[in-house]
Amino acid sequence: MTNPVIRPRRLRTSGALRRLASEIRVHPAELVLPMFVREGDDARPITSMPGVVQHSIDSARRAVVEAAEAGIGGIMLFGVPEVRDAIGTGATDPAGILNVATRALVDEIGDALVVQTDLCLDEFTDHGHCGVLAADGHVDNDATLERYRDMALAQATAGSALLGLSGMMDGQVAAVRETLDVNGFEDTAVLAYSAKYASAFYGPFREAVASTLVGDRRTYQLDPANRREGVREAQLDIDEGADIVMVKPAGGYLDVLAEVAAMSDIPVWAYQVSGEYAMIEAAAAQGWIDRRRAVEESVLSIRRAGADAVLTYWAVELATWLKEER
Ligand code: PBG
Repeated sequence: MTNPVIRPRRLRTSGALRRLASEIRVHPAELVLPMFVREGDDARPITSMPGVVQHSIDSARRAVVEAAEAGIGGIMLFGVPEVRDAIGTGATDPAGILNVATRALVDEIGDALVVQTDLCLDEFTDHGHCGVLAADGHVDNDATLERYRDMALAQATAGSALLGLSGMMDGQVAAVRETLDVNGFEDTAVLAYSAKYASAFYGPFREAVASTLVGDRRTYQLDPANRREGVREAQLDIDEGADIVMVKPAGGYLDVLAEVAAMSDIPVWAYQVSGEYAMIEAAAAQGWIDRRRAVEESVLSIRRAGADAVLTYWAVELATWLKEER
């Protein structure tokens, strides 16, 4: 037995070599912070997401300035309304919380980062589903598309630069694109949550938006068992005119992410969701895991699997660390 000739460890011998040999990097510009804005004057903590709050408009203004100073690429806004109804009227009302918050934050931050909006009805419906219901209680795909068209107009008018279509209705990208185009919003971009799985890891998000949902979203979100179907959904959204496709959640779906990244000719993003955040925070709070290293590694892994940008609740803190690291 001779000594090995090939020694991959050579490139790991010093910090300087490891830094130079690093295949990918995470940069603040490719991080997007999801933000919740509630109706009312005071911000409120979200118990299951330590460190994340439901903002008031005022606290959201301060947070977006901080986010821009940290150098992140954008924010994704979610509205938490006081009143909900069957068709989610608040979503299309110019005075609805999400549209009001969008105007306020675009006004506050200008071009320093990209203000994006969640285009989905679940925060605004009293039943908590992502669409409107037919008489028999099922989510009516095509009637929902009409609501999404109106929502797209309301959000684009409010100044959102990138609409995050997260409802998983068939044909939603084509419908929204068409409505934007015929109304003079050719330059408003569409981020398609293409491969969005019916995941248990959205648990804390339901608290974050005070969701009223009973049951689940398995008739429209993807079955966690299906990789091929996730890739197909992304292809359909590309064909319908999406500007960016997304895979969500991220951590448990890195295989889907890698496959979408391999086939896509448009940017591919991933959403590190509330449950992924809560798990690391909870373990770190117990002292069971090194918080900073776990956060950095989790986002790095999502980038490595093929995401061009990552939505993460740690966006601002992570960006701050990245700046320290040079
Ligand atoms: C739906 C939406 C959800 C999330 C983002 N958009 C919840 C769901 O589909 O049930 C979850 C995000 C997270 O868990 O961080 N509008």
